Amino acid sequence: MPRQLFVTTALPYANAPFHIGHMMEYIQADIWVRFQRMHGSAVHFVCADDAHGAPIMIAAEKAGKTPQQFVADIAAGRKEYLDGFHISFDNWHSTDGAENHQLAQDIYRALKKNGLIDTRTIEQFFDPDKNMFLPDRFIKGECPKCHAKDQYGDNCEVCGAVYSPTELINPYSALSGATPVLRTSEHFFFKLSDPRCLAFLDQWTQSGAVQPEVLNKIAEWIEPGEDGKPKMGDWDISRDAPYFGIEIPDAPGKYFYVWLDAPIGYLASLQNRFAKIEGDAAKGAAAYTAFMADPATEQYHFIGKDIITFHTLFWPAMLHFSGRKTPNAVFVHGFLTINSGEKMSKSRGTGLNPLKYLSLGMNPEWLRYYLATKLTPRNEDIEFSPEDFMARVNSDLIGKYINIASRAAGFISKRFGGKLGAVSPDGAGLLDTLREGQDTIAALYESREFAKALREVMLLADKVNAYVDANKPWELAKKEGMEARLHDVCTVCIEAFRLLTIYLKPVLPALAASVETFLNSGPLSFGKANGGLPAGHAIGEYQHLMQRVDIKQLDALFEAPALAVAAQGATETVATTPPGGEALAPTITIDDFAKVDLRIASIVNCEAVEGSTKLLRLTLDAGEKDDAGQPRMRNVFSGIASAYKPEDLVGKLTVLVANLAPRKMKFGVSEGMVLAASHGDEKANPGIYILNPWPGAQPGMRIH
Ligand code: 2FM
Ligand code: ZN
Repeated sequence: MPRQLFVTTALPYANAPFHIGHMMEYIQADIWVRFQRMHGSAVHFVCADDAHGAPIMIAAEKAGKTPQQFVADIAAGRKEYLDGFHISFDNWHSTDGAENHQLAQDIYRALKKNGLIDTRTIEQFFDPDKNMFLPDRFIKGECPKCHAKDQYGDNCEVCGAVYSPTELINPYSALSGATPVLRTSEHFFFKLSDPRCLAFLDQWTQSGAVQPEVLNKIAEWIEPGEDGKPKMGDWDISRDAPYFGIEIPDAPGKYFYVWLDAPIGYLASLQNRFAKIEGDAAKGAAAYTAFMADPATEQYHFIGKDIITFHTLFWPAMLHFSGRKTPNAVFVHGFLTINSGEKMSKSRGTGLNPLKYLSLGMNPEWLRYYLATKLTPRNEDIEFSPEDFMARVNSDLIGKYINIASRAAGFISKRFGGKLGAVSPDGAGLLDTLREGQDTIAALYESREFAKALREVMLLADKVNAYVDANKPWELAKKEGMEARLHDVCTVCIEAFRLLTIYLKPVLPALAASVETFLNSGPLSFGKANGGLPAGHAIGEYQHLMQRVDIKQLDALFEAPALAVAAQGATETVATTPPGGEALAPTITIDDFAKVDLRIASIVNCEAVEGSTKLLRLTLDAGEKDDAGQPRMRNVFSGIASAYKPEDLVGKLTVLVANLAPRKMKFGVSEGMVLAASHGDEKANPGIYILNPWPGAQPGMRIH
């Protein structure tokens, strides 16, 4: 019996285009799904836009659109990415679809019937101008710990403190600027701390549904802690109108919190797929119900490590206590980092822009291959290194694999009428070795050990290359009487190439399709590794299958936009003049550089300087203490008044040259210098851009 699988990736918020982190998850899941299909399983692979919640509602309002229109506009941009990177979703839906409204309400009713819904009155900030309760992210104020201004209601970006919005000093609404007032409201809670839930979760999480390292992370929520109680509390699942979401039955003005209906969107997208297959909503619903009721159906969710608790605690409990099938497994992956740098965060999405990658003419399958060489079944971050990317693609993919075909195909078509020949025992032995690899490679794909699977494939490719080097078809071609041997050797190469293509097809679907055409082989699948193309089989004309990566493309990918455009038009002439318009200073040693003590500093205060149109006076905290152990503040004058208003800078972090000799100025002593970028030619660009570190940096940290 073929397996029947229901596979999802996390539903992206419909408030921004995809970034590379999304693509990595989709590629990981897509490789697994394509492997399963090649192995004879029936798969429904679905996703959807995560449409609801306050941030999307507010973003839509700012954009002057209805939330529905806002989400639809974002959704319209999805295809370019998904098609561009060969992601084979069977369906794309929205959590605002009719199916999701129905399913969320059904699930809620079932939980309520089971005695797992509670109501409680809570106190929350309310914006009297906007007439709405404010989510934590939309309340700002002064940090209660370090007194930095304009910090969010849940944590301080300057000192990193975590607090609740009611602790903020002088809170204000980020929507209207009004001072929020505390108001009570009745909220609905899912009683996750109920002993039934804890017992179920204990059992489900131990059932092999989560990776061991994930289990360690979540155990504290369900296992008794030092005080004898687990950390798991009840979950607030309601929000008050106005809210873009799904109405709670029999509770006017109350909506489900976005995270309640988001995972239900997995089911809704699947049901929507069945409706499309059946051509009718009611028939689709029936087919969906039957599919999910079938004990043979396996359910898998690919997610990132930032949303573990929602998927391994809340979601299985919602499913179980509403009488539904629970996931067979949740597969958690880490983040993608670039050059050991920052997390490719959702909000920032900098680093590797997927559409820019495509627009530079870079092959999507290079990225799929490269990521696959790094992917493991573990929850660990993976690193994108441009040098490594180039080496893997050019040396392994092209050098070891593609070249096998390019070295043999020409002889087959020119010398043997495009027909394969007979294989003698040495070649047959090599091909047997390749065929024997099939089960190991399949098992590695199955367990999401993609890095190991590709290592196996490349080891086999090495064997084929050793055979090619030992037999040198290009020399055989020149020798008299070696025609039969040349035919034999090239036939072995082509069959070896076919086998390697089978093993790479989950990762390189478009390339595999070209190979299928070239070999005239029909669709390649795992079961087919054992057979082989018979002698006399006619293959097609060899077309170049894949280009090498050009370093200029990688340079352009990570360049500032202006340079990328230059590189796109003419890859030979990447602009070399820096936008500063100045030649570089002479080379220094690392020791020279180390003499400059650069520190992260918080701009605690900033004011205009009377009598100067150029200068601002900054009060900086670089994490230093004076002799009495009190925080030491620095007074620094900076010529940035043309670019910034004092209030723009207060509470921000920047970079201080901390060991610059103090300088006496007309207005006082300047104790250091802050760093800012500017163009060498002020007329060309009068801008001044003060440096600001990424979130997480703290005052006093050294910059090396
Ligand atoms: O973290 C996120 O991007 C969420 N939109 C993921 C939701 S996954 C599922 F629950 F819908
Ligand atoms: Zn703070």
